[in-house]
Amino acid sequence: MISHADLTAQASFQALQAHVIDARAWHLRDLFSQDSNRFSKFSTEAAGLFLDYSKNRVSDTTMQLLFSLARERAIEARRDAMFSGEKINLTEQRAVLHTALRAPRTTTLMLDGQNVIADIHAVLDQMKTFTERVRSGQWAGRTGEAITDIVNIGIGGSDLGPKMACQALRSFAHPRLTMHFVSNVDGHDLDALLQNINPDTTLVIIASKTFTTLETMMNAQSARAWFLRNGNESDLPKHFVAVSTNTEAIKKFGIDPENMFPFWDWVGGRYSIWSAIGLSLALSIGFENFNRFLAGAHAMDRHFQSARLEQNMPVILALIGLWYRNFLDSSSISIAPYHQDLRYFPSYLQQLEMESNGKRVASDGTPLSVASCPVIWGDVGTNGQHAYFQLLHQGTDVIPVDFIATLKPNHALPGHHAALLANCFAQSEAFMRGKTADEVRADMPAKTAAESDAESLVPHKTFPGNRPSNTILMDALTPATLGALIALYEHKTFVQGVLWGVNSFDQWGVELGKILAKNIQSELSGTAYPDLHDSSTNGLIARAKAAL
Ligand code: F6P
Repeated sequence: MISHADLTAQASFQALQAHVIDARAWHLRDLFSQDSNRFSKFSTEAAGLFLDYSKNRVSDTTMQLLFSLARERAIEARRDAMFSGEKINLTEQRAVLHTALRAPRTTTLMLDGQNVIADIHAVLDQMKTFTERVRSGQWAGRTGEAITDIVNIGIGGSDLGPKMACQALRSFAHPRLTMHFVSNVDGHDLDALLQNINPDTTLVIIASKTFTTLETMMNAQSARAWFLRNGNESDLPKHFVAVSTNTEAIKKFGIDPENMFPFWDWVGGRYSIWSAIGLSLALSIGFENFNRFLAGAHAMDRHFQSARLEQNMPVILALIGLWYRNFLDSSSISIAPYHQDLRYFPSYLQQLEMESNGKRVASDGTPLSVASCPVIWGDVGTNGQHAYFQLLHQGTDVIPVDFIATLKPNHALPGHHAALLANCFAQSEAFMRGKTADEVRADMPAKTAAESDAESLVPHKTFPGNRPSNTILMDALTPATLGALIALYEHKTFVQGVLWGVNSFDQWGVELGKILAKNIQSELSGTAYPDLHDSSTNGLIARAKAAL
């Protein structure tokens, strides 16, 4: 078992505890005015992404101590263990090899005596053939018509990744194919969709790593029943395909073995967009673009593996995140993509980071002595500015923000993109600088009889500033830059998991609710009024039974 000293026992952690006493007194305005090189010093580039981390409450010393902490936690060795296929997911005794999914065909990676790269590329070849047939119209539905609508039925990692990426890359989408994503067991989700699509021109992808997830199985059965209202069982193979690690369960569902796209237990659900779970994305943007998406992620992998920690973008993001979480008491991070097509990116990162590092014990089972993953949340700019940014500017909590923007748009509407970028840069500047009471007074109209009223407004109009942010820029949102962006956050999550000493690759926390839901589901459908729970749960079940 890999064991770590407790994070708080590391010499650099203790040095940071002493250092933060000074750092709490700093203001970002002063850090910028004291050092004209701050932007070039605290920015870095990799895999088509540019990271400006200068608007953070860090000095040279802070960064040096953070990099020492990373070294004390053996980040490089742990990273190499992941890439080489060591079984670092200890509670499930599994390797963690999403990075292999984007490795070139020419590489070799042996796991339990098997070259996984060959297996991966065999499935990629299968995806290529299939996607080309559907996109060209050669793959016909039961009436001989080409497919027009693709429905991905999955949840969590089998939904959030493909849904986010299809939306992000909609400029590259096939014009005949409309993508739909159904995840919720709430029938309103599937029902709303089924009313608007034609079963004869619809292709359903059942995407589930385990092929046992209640929500997905129920939606898949209902979609099957909807299809069979017109079609026959023998038509199913033209309209239903599956992506899973569970071949037996797929066969039982009645999917043609030819139409199964496998992946492996060493791919975590929230890291599976690079596997056959990305089938809907490959159908939408085409296989060449899907390959570019993989290549973008691979470029970030190479950077993560080879760059010195001091220039290593995922390591920098992770360390700065830890600085706020463990030394400056921030309990959440807001993600602000200034690109409408990245609107699902915050929810994607929620699963990636919170399911990975939302842990309370270390890998060896001992309770953590420091806070782990913060809450990840956010929405696209500029919408957030007119909703919750008020709290970010003047609320009582300091919430670091990750701004994400592209230099060029994927549309041709004049003026919009400059306005968007102006807002993005203005927000990070405002967070950083704030507005002092004297600046507020200087901006007030010439003093009148209402002078005392004007003075009473000063505290309301004052912004404390000193609110940190990162800004990630890329030339444009393309398959390659999206791949790199996702891989950046995957590796940030990995590094933070190593720093906190948790297993980032299991998710036992979701199990309890699943088991209890199964029991309650059978109680809701039975005739007896069970009395097995606390009074609240019993009361809620009774009310629901009376109404059902
Ligand atoms: O319940 C959580 C979870 O296991 C996620 O980790 C996963 O992405 C999701 O459910 C879906 O699981 P599956 O792909 O096996 O249906």
